Amino acid sequence: MAAMASTMGAAAVAMPKAMVEASPASSFVSQRVSFVSQRRSGLVAFGVGNGSAKVSMAAAGAAAPKGGKQQKKEIDETLLTPRFYTTDFDEMERLFNVEINKNLNEAEFEALAAEFKADYNQTHFVRNPEFKAAADKLQGPLRQIFVEFLERSCTAEFSGFLLYKELGRRLKKTNPVVAEIFTLMSRDEARHAGFLNKGLSDFNLALDLGFLTKARKYTFFRPQFIFYATYLSEKIGYWRYISIFRHLKQNPEYQCYPIFKYFENWCQDENRHGDFFSALLKAQPQFLNDWQAKLWSRFFCLSVYVTMYLNDVQRTAFYEGIGLNTRDFDMHVIVETNRTTARIFPAVLDVENPVFQERLDKLVVLNQKLIDIGTTSAPAPLKAIQRVPAILGMVSEILALYLMKPVDCGSLDFAEKEAELVY
Ligand SMILES: [Fe+2]
Ligand SMILES: [Fe+2]
Repeated sequence: MAAMASTMGAAAVAMPKAMVEASPASSFVSQRVSFVSQRRSGLVAFGVGNGSAKVSMAAAGAAAPKGGKQQKKEIDETLLTPRFYTTDFDEMERLFNVEINKNLNEAEFEALAAEFKADYNQTHFVRNPEFKAAADKLQGPLRQIFVEFLERSCTAEFSGFLLYKELGRRLKKTNPVVAEIFTLMSRDEARHAGFLNKGLSDFNLALDLGFLTKARKYTFFRPQFIFYATYLSEKIGYWRYISIFRHLKQNPEYQCYPIFKYFENWCQDENRHGDFFSALLKAQPQFLNDWQAKLWSRFFCLSVYVTMYLNDVQRTAFYEGIGLNTRDFDMHVIVETNRTTARIFPAVLDVENPVFQERLDKLVVLNQKLIDIGTTSAPAPLKAIQRVPAILGMVSEILALYLMKPVDCGSLDFAEKEAELVY
């Protein structure tokens, strides 16, 4: 997944991060299977505030020294943190059964599988001594925020790895070609997560991914929602990576850590992953062709965009550290992702209407109020009362965003390869 696509949220269902403990803004979520899987970037659920929700893994204890590094078993969970996902695998098997679903274009999936097998980035993720030297130069608040960036990105990528790996395993008999693609995508995500975790070693840290796999809670999304969320997550990840790469290429003085130099090829992985989900969606026209599909499409777009915006504005120091204006960067990514998404989703948001960003900025202010309340020493019941106006305000802004006149779009027979349109 897109790495950072740690961007997801929304009301959720419980997407990239822990909405669970602190009731999310939505009601979808419901079940949760005991098994693992899910995803990045991006998806989250409209997180409200900087909730203090700690996932259960936190109780297991934190860092234990190992080989001179801090082995981290917890990450700071908030409503906006990347989540792990799981889904209804039985329904997935029915959706990808070629005897039941005559819309599955096997030739298209064969072609996609060949592209994944080519493994263009097999030798791309090779580190060099520049990493450690650059990390040593990062000091003070920027150092801490880089660590957080690496941790969140690693978690988001790993989330994609878990979900895709399980889908690859579960679909093997029903649809071997689709299953193989999922497995190859999990290879990519494992590579991305591993590369980010190696980056953490430059800061004498490492995430204990095995522990996270077992201890972290999984958010359940039914297959339809997994498709919307992962498609958006991959595409927004693509736009984030490529935008950062292009910016740093033009402004090399901000190239303070070499991982960004890898983003150009890296984002092509995310783009391919998104194209695969685009093909999957086309094979499930029932998820694209009615009024409910339009409502869900808008809902997921909003969830992802709001989550990313709130997350990133809270981390302005990181974006400013690499020479970006956080809000401009986010709006660029949102607009580009929305244009890409409009090629497949039946409806998207009118993000290019200036009112859209105005409302996002109102959400930022309200979210900050919630964060500020959380940091006071007032008793919990008082804090709960103090939060009410801000929460109501956020609900009202989110509803207003959702109800803005949408953009009808989509096509079930658009360009064979979205990549042709992206570049
Ligand atoms: Fe990835
Ligand atoms: Fe991906």
